[in-house]
Amino acid sequence: MEELRIVGSSRILAIANQKGGVGKTTTAINLATALAAVGKSVLIVDIDPQGNASTGLGVDRFNREKNVYDVIMGHIPMADAVCESVIPNLDLVPSTPDLTGAELELIEMDRRSHRLVEALAPIKGNYDYILFDCPPSLNLLTLNALVAVQSVIVPLQCEFFALEGLSLLIKTIERVRTTLNPSLEIQGVVLTMFDKRNKLSDQVAQDVREYLGDKVYQTVIPRNVRVSEAPSHGKPALIYDHRCAGSQAYIKLASEVIRREKRQFAA
Ligand SMILES: Nc1ncnc2c1ncn2[C@@H]1O[C@H](COP(=O)(O)OP(=O)(O)O)[C@@H](O)[C@H]1O
Ligand SMILES: [Mg+2]
Repeated sequence: MEELRIVGSSRILAIANQKGGVGKTTTAINLATALAAVGKSVLIVDIDPQGNASTGLGVDRFNREKNVYDVIMGHIPMADAVCESVIPNLDLVPSTPDLTGAELELIEMDRRSHRLVEALAPIKGNYDYILFDCPPSLNLLTLNALVAVQSVIVPLQCEFFALEGLSLLIKTIERVRTTLNPSLEIQGVVLTMFDKRNKLSDQVAQDVREYLGDKVYQTVIPRNVRVSEAPSHGKPALIYDHRCAGSQAYIKLASEVIRREKRQFAA
């Protein structure tokens, strides 16, 4: 498999957390948009059967005839499923509910954990950044993403049970590193939906920083109503209202992500 991994300049990341509703898709869309806005070419691969990233980028259900399900099943090359989003420099491989079936079908397939890394190989050089928006589960789809990427960004919602699932996710990433993808690492943990009026939010943020140290990005994404409105308009928050606090935070996060990439790969 080694030859399929990245040697050039493409950076490939998964946005993962097996909890639903923690801000994975919001982070994927807005981080990608912020990266595209500074001239990076970006691809989002939506591997959640709910297809929220596809909807949030304005690719409606009727324009997803070619999608990630067919790619994982090997029916079509990934290049055929790439579509343009409403954002310049930002492409998408959309997802549909068919993908739910893929989880089961994959179990029977050869190289079932390597379907995505193999499908990505011919096009990965076309982009500066490739982001996988993962489903809320540690299933075979997420495993495929963890095999295909170099690093993981973990969105963590500032709420009481936030840390509970995190150790399982970290263990899973460790296990993938020692078996299927030796270079896998956590790029960072991003605190999402932070509410400064809520004492608990603050406490959770402190606990997470104590536990994970500088793996946690300095940038914290605030809870912001404009961010939650944006998907129903088929736009990233950064396009819907680029001045709102949520959008500004995602711009900061993007520069932190770029800085970390530079640091990690300077050697
Ligand atoms: N910073 C934020 N402020 C307000 N609402 C948010 C924020 N981030 C995400 N949301 C909302 O929370 C819900 C879950 O976010 P989402 O990104 O879809 O999570 P996941 O992909 O992890 O399931 C969505 O309705 C989304 O619009
Ligand atoms: Mg999602």
